[in-house]
Amino acid sequence: MREVAVVSAGMTPFGELWRHSLRDLFVEASLEALRNARADSVDAVYVGNMSGGQFVGQEHLAPLLVDQLGFRGVAATRVESACASGGAALRAAFLDVASGMSDVVLAAGVEKMNDGADVTGVLASAADQEAEVYHGVTFPGLYAMIARAHMEQHGTTLEDLAAVSVKNHRHGALNPKAQFRQEVTLEQVMNSSLVADPLRLLHCSPVSDGAAAVLLCPLSRAKEFTDRPVRIRASGLATSSMALAERRDPAFLDAVRLSASRAYKMAGLSPSGIDVAEVHDCFSIAEICVIEALCFVEPGRGGQAARTGETALGGRLPVNPSGGLKSKGHPVGATGIAQVIEIFDQLRGAAGERQVADAAIGLTQNMGGSGASSVVHIFERV
Ligand code: COA
Repeated sequence: MREVAVVSAGMTPFGELWRHSLRDLFVEASLEALRNARADSVDAVYVGNMSGGQFVGQEHLAPLLVDQLGFRGVAATRVESACASGGAALRAAFLDVASGMSDVVLAAGVEKMNDGADVTGVLASAADQEAEVYHGVTFPGLYAMIARAHMEQHGTTLEDLAAVSVKNHRHGALNPKAQFRQEVTLEQVMNSSLVADPLRLLHCSPVSDGAAAVLLCPLSRAKEFTDRPVRIRASGLATSSMALAERRDPAFLDAVRLSASRAYKMAGLSPSGIDVAEVHDCFSIAEICVIEALCFVEPGRGGQAARTGETALGGRLPVNPSGGLKSKGHPVGATGIAQVIEIFDQLRGAAGERQVADAAIGLTQNMGGSGASSVVHIFERV
């Protein structure tokens, strides 16, 4: 396999972008990535998107979007893995370059969620219909069950859950692309309106529009596009049972552990080698479970890590310096690529007020549904 580098990035702001269509968002982010690398052609494009069909009635996205970009004829594929579609698109692009099939490849994610669709219903189509959705459960409901299980097994408290949101809003307040740029207090989180007990409004990622894109090429060619490339050192993908009830332990994310083990093995690194991470905090409890499954902390200590500042900017291992899904926003198909962009910026020393000092190795973790799929990538400053 060839070594692969990320050489440039482009991203729209995330939020309720009423004046932009799905195609506008994709083109804006992709053109920025191409312009930053001074690249005027690509060999292939991978589009991460969860459900253009259900959100805006548009399927068959890959040919439509590359045509809009001015690349008619280029090999293009849509990649879908629910909220992990962006991470899965990056993996497809990475494998394409690593295998030697393609040289210059664009991996872009896009979602337009605020366009009148029944968002909760569309998102629920990524859960097990027969075992879960037919009985009325939604994603906030599924993650509320995960939270309850975690609280019972490990003594995780409502303050622990709220501390994740407080931290990520504090980080997001420093991010000009974030949907919510205001800090929130523990009290505000704990008194926000109840969504699915124990999860409240300020424990949830929002409904968002947005797009993000990165350009990949062989490491040997990276200097043609940038003087500060970032190497993709490993990629790990794994799956678990779709239905929560069929898992060995609802409070433990098997697919995250498995995808991380594969990535750590490929990189030849242990979790202690990671300097900064972007993880899938679609609900506050998700960040807690994910950092445990990534072996950043012992099982049961995820909440404490946020409460004590261990995972905050300035802490032992900053998690979600971008503001995470909670504050930056979660346009589902774009999220996995936006995570990569934050790590790309961090490893190039270009993260501004959010910069983690001396960050050399970064990790992204992107998750589908309630954890039935997970993609982990590890990046290295060159
Ligand atoms: N965090 C912080 N503020 C939020 C928010 C969130 N997640 N969602 C909405 N808001 C704010 C809005 O900006 C609005 O503020 P304003 O009154 O100052 O304008 C207010 O709360 C009401 O917004 P509204 O859009 O009416 O909220 P809602 O009740 O329809 O939706 C949720 C709230 C939590 C149900 C929705 O954000 C949601 O479904 N989130 C989860 C998305 C999800 O499941 N993603 C996939 C994960 S697997």
